[in-house]
Amino acid sequence: MLDNRAFDIIFREARTHNGWLPKPVPDDILRELHDLMKWGPTSANCSPARILFIRTKEAKERLKPALSSANRDKTMAAPVTAIVAYDLKFYDFLPKLFPHNQTARSWFTSDEEVARITAIRNGTLQGAYMMIAARALGLDCGPMSGFDNAKVDAEFFAGQSLKSNFLCNLGYGDPSKLFNRSPRLSFDEACKIL
Ligand SMILES: Cc1cc2nc3c(=O)[nH]c(=O)nc-3n(C[C@H](O)[C@H](O)[C@H](O)COP(=O)(O)O)c2cc1C
Repeated sequence: MLDNRAFDIIFREARTHNGWLPKPVPDDILRELHDLMKWGPTSANCSPARILFIRTKEAKERLKPALSSANRDKTMAAPVTAIVAYDLKFYDFLPKLFPHNQTARSWFTSDEEVARITAIRNGTLQGAYMMIAARALGLDCGPMSGFDNAKVDAEFFAGQSLKSNFLCNLGYGDPSKLFNRSPRLSFDEACKIL
């Protein structure tokens, strides 16, 4: 079991950041991030998440028109913005990812809606694994759904089977730009044991 300090870093003291310190995020840490998050479970090991890390000024400018006004400045200032996307044709990797059942691909090619829901559900889970991995590596996160998905898809994924899910700024957060922490539901409000 992890110790209390790890729980603080990953959960209790981890915040959604709005301001960023001028400290770069090297490519190596993005690779380490993926090397951790990829182990989180997905149904049939389908692993539909695809992540486009937007780092350069040019790439940020391409993202800018799709951002809501509330999210624009902080995203332009973040060292890296991850476009957490999912691949609607994730099933093409199943012969590799689920090698003990070579019929798995057909479960999804035969029903587009099942494939879509599977991609969204598991791609979202993988986005959460990404944030947990980022925090474990000492990074801060700023997840956002305030953007135009269709614009992002047209700009970055035209002609591909990828769809954007959410954005996540990554870097080292400036604690002076945090909002006050909002409460969470209690166990009794959110859970039941039958
Ligand atoms: C999927 C998702 C979408 C979000 N979208 C936005 C957004 O568009 N803009 C924003 O400022 N915050 C956004 N947030 C941040 C949440 O409001 C924030 O994570 C929540 O209030 C908890 O804050 P805390 O982590 O500091 O406790 C989003 C968070 C998630 C997980």
